[in-house]
Amino acid sequence: WPVQAALISEINALKKERNAVILAHNYMTPDIFHGVGDFVGDSLALAKEAAKVDAKVIVQAGVHFMAETSKILSPEKTVLIPDLRAGCSLASSITGADVRLIKERHPGLPVITYVNTTADVKAETDICCTSANAVQVVEWAAKEWGVDKVILIPDEYLARNVAAQTSVGIIAWAGHCEVHKRFTTQDIADMRAAWPGAEVLAHPECPEEILQAADFAGSTAAMISYVEKNRPKKVVLITECSMASNIKGDVPEVEFVGPCNMCPHMKRITLENIRDCLLHMQFEVTVEPEMQEKARAAVQRMIDLPP
Ligand code: 13P
Ligand code: SF4
Repeated sequence: WPVQAALISEINALKKERNAVILAHNYMTPDIFHGVGDFVGDSLALAKEAAKVDAKVIVQAGVHFMAETSKILSPEKTVLIPDLRAGCSLASSITGADVRLIKERHPGLPVITYVNTTADVKAETDICCTSANAVQVVEWAAKEWGVDKVILIPDEYLARNVAAQTSVGIIAWAGHCEVHKRFTTQDIADMRAAWPGAEVLAHPECPEEILQAADFAGSTAAMISYVEKNRPKKVVLITECSMASNIKGDVPEVEFVGPCNMCPHMKRITLENIRDCLLHMQFEVTVEPEMQEKARAAVQRMIDLPP
């Protein structure tokens, strides 16, 4: 793979020259994840890293809402994304105007939004959450506001999966992840028949019947920890394809089997466009200052919650 090796060296040299770091999500391809990512992780870990990272430039190897989150937390830094078209079906399912209408319909209830949202949605939010901390955030908000119901948007399946784990009532929205909603219980039944004994791990953005049929549900980082800790002989990761490729090398005794779906948005990020991004300092992600200040309060509240 000489072309990739040359690109990786070029990118690593450009990072030094530009005083840049690359924040890479767990769904990046292995050449990015292992070759050039300075910090790798799930949405929560990357948001926390963006808040404290010591560099002038952040390159977000992920999707647009992640780059906006980094900018919201580090307004003094230049935040770049290698392809502006790297979107997300959840982020595009709702706008700030929609959230204002929901608030009018349910006055007095705390608004919790998944980090997979645009900055204008975060600006209408009381506190953000990720798939790693959604139950904790819902219970914290209900207690803090003294209510028995909260608004948790825009992922309908995440909302239902959280509702199954708490007594707090949830008002949801009909947004979906186009990658996770495509898995079916038939996929799981087929895998269990083909690979008896395989453990099935699913992401909470999947429909609830998938999580009921799975052995474990958790964020991308939680799935990785589960595999590293339990070392199952065979495992099915009901999530994006790159996850298994990225961790295979660390757990050689584990066999990864079964279906995966590709996120077309995550896959827009390549070694080539990361190199161009650093070479030409493109494409800068900015957030209007007033919106950024309001959105920052919601993201920071999440980061400040006790672990
Ligand atoms: P996490 O990495 O937070 O589990 O999120 C998955 C995802 O779909 C990000 O777009
Ligand atoms: Fe959005 Fe789903 Fe892709 Fe994550 S995997 S970026 S939630 S479309």
